[in-house]
Amino acid sequence: MEVKEQIERLRKELDRHNYNYYVLNAPEISDQEFDKMMRELQELEAAHPEYDDPDSPTKRVVSDLNQEFVQVTHRYPMLSLSNTYNKQEVADFYERVRSGLEGEPFEICCEMKYDGLSISLTYEHGRLLRAVTRGDGVRGDDVTENVKTIRCIPLRLSGTGYPDEFEIRGEILMPWTSFEKLNKEREEREEPLFANPRNAASGTLKSKSSSVVAQRKLDAYLYYLLGDQIPFDGHYENLQAARGWDFKISQGMKKVTTLEDIYDFIDYWDDERKNLPVATDGIVLKVNSLRQQRALGYTAKSPRWAIAYKFQAERACTRLNAVTFQVGRTGAVTPVANMNPVQLAGTVVRRATLHNADVMEQLDLHLGDMVYVEKGGEIIPKIVGVDTAARGPQTGPKAEFITHCPECGAELVRYEGEAAWYCPNETYCPPQIKGRIEHYISRRAMNFDSLGPETVDDYYNRGLIRDVADLYDIQVLQINGEDGTREKSARKIVRSIADSVQVPFERVVFALGIRFVGEIAAKTLARHYKSMDALASASLNDLLQINGIGEVIAESVIRYFHNETNVELIRRLREKGVRMQLSEEELEAHSDRLAGQSIVVSGVFTLHSRDEYKTMIEQHGGKNVGSISSKTSFVLAGSNMGPSKLEKAKKLNIPILSEEDFLKRIVR
Ligand code: IVH
Repeated sequence: MEVKEQIERLRKELDRHNYNYYVLNAPEISDQEFDKMMRELQELEAAHPEYDDPDSPTKRVVSDLNQEFVQVTHRYPMLSLSNTYNKQEVADFYERVRSGLEGEPFEICCEMKYDGLSISLTYEHGRLLRAVTRGDGVRGDDVTENVKTIRCIPLRLSGTGYPDEFEIRGEILMPWTSFEKLNKEREEREEPLFANPRNAASGTLKSKSSSVVAQRKLDAYLYYLLGDQIPFDGHYENLQAARGWDFKISQGMKKVTTLEDIYDFIDYWDDERKNLPVATDGIVLKVNSLRQQRALGYTAKSPRWAIAYKFQAERACTRLNAVTFQVGRTGAVTPVANMNPVQLAGTVVRRATLHNADVMEQLDLHLGDMVYVEKGGEIIPKIVGVDTAARGPQTGPKAEFITHCPECGAELVRYEGEAAWYCPNETYCPPQIKGRIEHYISRRAMNFDSLGPETVDDYYNRGLIRDVADLYDIQVLQINGEDGTREKSARKIVRSIADSVQVPFERVVFALGIRFVGEIAAKTLARHYKSMDALASASLNDLLQINGIGEVIAESVIRYFHNETNVELIRRLREKGVRMQLSEEELEAHSDRLAGQSIVVSGVFTLHSRDEYKTMIEQHGGKNVGSISSKTSFVLAGSNMGPSKLEKAKKLNIPILSEEDFLKRIVR
């Protein structure tokens, strides 16, 4: 077979499997087979850049290009829908439509209201041309590159009958499972959590890095087709046709005629939506005929032919018994409402977060109050109000925020600009100690895979550990259970602790749990200073010179190494053999020889792969950029570099380095 044909066949096949997997949820082949096919195509494409296609399925696996979003004016403004909150308001809408259409029969299309962020996709000749966010309704951000990584959005359409040029709108969502996974990872890395999948989807789509978008597994449902040559008069029929072109269209769509049918649809989905993989916050009702839609027209803000019915956030009323206070690993104190158990959105709720002292103050909570608890798009229930009418002589005193740490008694402090109160006793406050140990052993830090938080709690309570260095002194005999039955797992634990001396220096820096020093900052510091001694003796000024290290991190590092307990801890860890500097190999592989340089990698290479070159650039302090500009320091060019890139580099006088030249530059 001709190479060109082979490439085309693979692209078609991969598009089909993508569709099966992401739209139909019915894969025909295993992930491994899929990956194999994808690699085959990647290799062929790399060897034959002349058959390049921007819509190839390989383009969904994207690089880390930095993009600035360009603003685009919508061809048709993106309006919003007016909201209704009860059946009477729905009935009013139905009546307005009936009288607006002067007695003509009409159909209403009922569908889910997805709670994500809206997107407008433009297709020309069956190809995705552009993806733009809603923005202010008139202009939005061009997020095409990011949207291309969303697997269920077709880059090329299947089937027949689609207009040459059209727009399709829908909602981009983060499925609940991806959302929970993402937040769990963020928690481990001590990054702020997303409150709900909508915020997470929005943060993701606006990310400057398409590879972040690709990793986070977004989903998209399409619900509105626009253009001059739309195939049918019926909205419902158009969407069914769009399903045939590979778009993901909600299964929960129904055409009805009576108000009773609309109510049935609402009642059914109010409950059934809990089983959907993505967040929904209501129902949308649309007059089905486009001709009738035009006849009804628009108000300044929204169509007269459609309306949203919003589900009630599930709410319950129960008695507040006490407010307790939780001390987190960082010392932040969170107030928690303890209530009489109450059924809410499928689970029994006993506790709800009160967030912080300000929120508590605003609610003016009294013990014994009847409080309203809601579970909205957020997973953690929250108290949204107090039934003040239910107060009486039996109502207790006002719930006050505490002044001292409930765990260690230290006086709490509040840092400027922060909502939370903190326990400042980092060294001796038990949850902070246990939290630091849990962080030290976590997967991304020292990765003691056989130890978990419960075990840490147990060892702490038994007095076996007071800090992370104590872990290295644990003996099998101490932890194998009284009758020795758990000897096997005890040996495993002791071995995994001993093995941790292999963990690279940058992860050791992260594992220390220096406040505000996440994985990336730890990596930056480790590579810059190369040893713990150098890091410990860095001055504030030194630290502030480093790219990516701001004031907050720098000050926290200084504070950490000024604390005698920490210095002593590091001394003991060093004694146990924990890595306190970059290894010889790492020293070899890392330098700052490319510091401050922006480098474009282009073409096909023979000595190393493209990705290896990109990693090398980063390891030597350089930055990978996607396209050539006057700011580019040089181009690392393999064979077959695209002619337009070559021309641009020449025009801007950007040096072009071969593989050999580049390697010479980075070896000592
Ligand atoms: S139709 C002119 N259908 O709700 C009508 N919108 O307040 C265009 N939404 O911005 C919108 N699910 O982001 C439509 N099935 C659905 C929807 C839906 C969610 C969102 C959309 C829009 C907002 C309207």
